[in-house]
Amino acid sequence: MDFGTVQYIDWFRENWRKIAYDMGTSGVHGVTNKQLGIEMGELNLGKTLFFGHDELIELISEIYGVEKNGILITSGSTYANYLICALHLSPGDEVIVEHPVYTPLLDVVKLFGTKVRFIERRFENDYRLDIDELSSMTTKDTRMIVITNLHNPSGAFMDAGTLKAVADIAEDSHTHVLSDEVYRDFILDDAPPVMSSISPLALSTCSLSKFYGSGALRIGWLMGDSKLIKRARRMNDYLAVTASCAGETYAAQILAKRDWFVDRVREISARNYPLVKQWLDKRGDLEAVMPRYGLIVYLRIIKNIDSMKLAETLLTKYHTILSPGRFFGEEDHFRIGIGGEKDNLMGAFENLGTALDELG
Ligand SMILES: Cc1ncc(COP(=O)(O)O)c(C=O)c1O
Repeated sequence: MDFGTVQYIDWFRENWRKIAYDMGTSGVHGVTNKQLGIEMGELNLGKTLFFGHDELIELISEIYGVEKNGILITSGSTYANYLICALHLSPGDEVIVEHPVYTPLLDVVKLFGTKVRFIERRFENDYRLDIDELSSMTTKDTRMIVITNLHNPSGAFMDAGTLKAVADIAEDSHTHVLSDEVYRDFILDDAPPVMSSISPLALSTCSLSKFYGSGALRIGWLMGDSKLIKRARRMNDYLAVTASCAGETYAAQILAKRDWFVDRVREISARNYPLVKQWLDKRGDLEAVMPRYGLIVYLRIIKNIDSMKLAETLLTKYHTILSPGRFFGEEDHFRIGIGGEKDNLMGAFENLGTALDELG
């Protein structure tokens, strides 16, 4: 296997120390254990949780509507995505991946020597997944379809009907589905079911990183048919065996406070959306499809400004980070995360405006 560089991660790792203003984070800004009033109590640090922390599994099952034996706790959804690819993919397999795409997801699919075909999510179509196109592209040779809900980078969401249509296509051609749902929690009203509960061929991934502002805990989960989860667990015996008991104990307490997070996300969205709209309305050099849910906005640059140059200028001159379009496969775009604190976000917008003016 050729473990090339995951450029997106590498870029953030190289630059994170330079950041004062953050538009790179794609979830809500972080919470602290103190803020949540988390009590760890007494933990038996020698007791391996072979099937995960009971309460955590219980809560995931309840909140996400999945069977308890269809859950595997992982080190973030990144790890869960890797397991899915390792379970299903072999060199030469054909995989359909959406474009624009969160490139680390593409990188892991390619790691297994696959042939990738892209399904376009177009600006003109509000970044919706085109079901007819997906249907015509999927054949018995297609091994896996890879989707994100919400879509990263655009934030477009898929409703229950669309997910069912994807499931039908997958089942007709006996194709597996990797559904990365790390942003699905942001769909606060009429949330569609978790994809893995719609089809036994689908596996869904989720984590604490975005909606719960707790990415540094590195806790995520893989959801799917119990037989697939059993295979994933066996594969994980080569890697981590289980997640960390401390991380899982934290995670259980975080999920138990889900209502608090729902209120927090509603509040932050209600405050930050108008700020973005007002700022964007004044810019003649950018356009966007404003998403209904989530805290990411994908911006298309209308003028001749290089998004990588823009990102580098922002970092070096203004200590501000965003995600250049290169990391989604489109150089003339960039993604901003709008889940920050008000002052930080306003400062970031000011810097972004100045940098765009300078380069434009
Ligand atoms: C679509 C998508 N999947 C996975 C991840 C990584 O999430 P985690 O921290 O759970 O590994 C991200 C983070 O940006 C993401 O955007």
